[in-house]
Amino acid sequence: MTNPRKSRDPKTLRPATQLIHGGSLRSEFEEASEALFLTQSYLYDSMEIAEARFKGTEPGFVYSRFSNPTVAMFERRMALLEGAEAARATASGMAAVTAALMGQVWAGDHVVAAKALFGSCLYVVEELLPRFGVASTLVEGTDLASWRAALRPNTKTAFLESPTNPTLEIVDIAGVADIMHGAGATLVVDNVFATPLFQRPLELGADCVVYSATKHIDGQGRVLGGVILASEKFIADHIHNFLRQTGPCLSPFNAWTLLKSLETLPVRVAAQTRSAERIADFLSGHPAVVRTLYPGRLDHPQADLAKRQMSAGGTLLAFEVAGGKTAAFRMANALSIIGVSNNLGDAKSLITHPETTTHQRLKPDQRAALGIGPGLLRLSVGLEDSQDLIEDLAQALDKTASLPRHAAE
Ligand SMILES: Cc1ncc(COP(=O)(O)O)c(C=O)c1O
Repeated sequence: MTNPRKSRDPKTLRPATQLIHGGSLRSEFEEASEALFLTQSYLYDSMEIAEARFKGTEPGFVYSRFSNPTVAMFERRMALLEGAEAARATASGMAAVTAALMGQVWAGDHVVAAKALFGSCLYVVEELLPRFGVASTLVEGTDLASWRAALRPNTKTAFLESPTNPTLEIVDIAGVADIMHGAGATLVVDNVFATPLFQRPLELGADCVVYSATKHIDGQGRVLGGVILASEKFIADHIHNFLRQTGPCLSPFNAWTLLKSLETLPVRVAAQTRSAERIADFLSGHPAVVRTLYPGRLDHPQADLAKRQMSAGGTLLAFEVAGGKTAAFRMANALSIIGVSNNLGDAKSLITHPETTTHQRLKPDQRAALGIGPGLLRLSVGLEDSQDLIEDLAQALDKTASLPRHAAE
């Protein structure tokens, strides 16, 4: 395997170019498009080479649980995009989150995380870590004082997502990173909602970034995947052995799908974001909509922080319809283009009712504290014509007009 285009350092290229050419490995067949290596293992020319590969004194692939050329290309391309020294791919976003946290802690350690987390991430922090003797504290992510107050002498790491799912709150990544570093702890950021194009957590001070590649990185609703990005040292100290020995690896087929998807990530996400901006404007002026939450709008409660930390508002927005659950269900059921689904980042626009799906395992008071009410809907804006999406939303919102403003839930 060779590195094509050796003459130009891919780190000096802009993201759109990196995502077409970066990280490629070319075989002796000189293929133009990156190859899919469906192999579990590799043959060595001699016993001596096998010994050297296992010792790590000679580079090369050993076993696809931890090294495969197609997976390596995906990791190399992601590392370039993120500006990270190293990347490791995983079977799903949750495998990435779990490894990034579990790989760092020992029994007796303490972890701090924001309350507003994706439900499965909350499970890892609140239920899984404590089973292995790792205490956790959940804090109000938007309040730096509560991160500070949660620190203990044994705090090892912190975890947050920003913008949050589903209410699109913004957490001050640089602020939390400073607090954690001051206490000798690290910060892991789930950057799924912002995408690597609009928010750069490592530059803001985070030690590790995780993605569900299932979302915008695939972007076409096909495969699951995840990725962990950090310094060489962080990966060597906390991630490499954990993944290698426990096996939540990305399949070569999924890696190939994701690698090819990266080529179109900037154009897809830019088009989706332009539509999301238009749709947020439409929804915020609609009489059936009580509030619209979009990080790219000036009326977002944390518009200044969003502007400082993100270069665009992204592809997701949330809005609350008057009339609670009855109106939200009636509206979403009346949509003819936008699909009802808990997924996001897809080419197809998707709508979710967080209270009854992604966040249903939370207690009612937890949901209320996070602003997840019965009338709240999350919209992941796809690649359809934005005017068609606005017309679809308009006709569906009309269906809620006959309901009393505060219909019983
Ligand atoms: C913010 C966030 N983090 C992590 C995940 C988990 O990713 P996956 O479904 O690929 O395991 C999801 C979605 O499912 C998500 O929305």
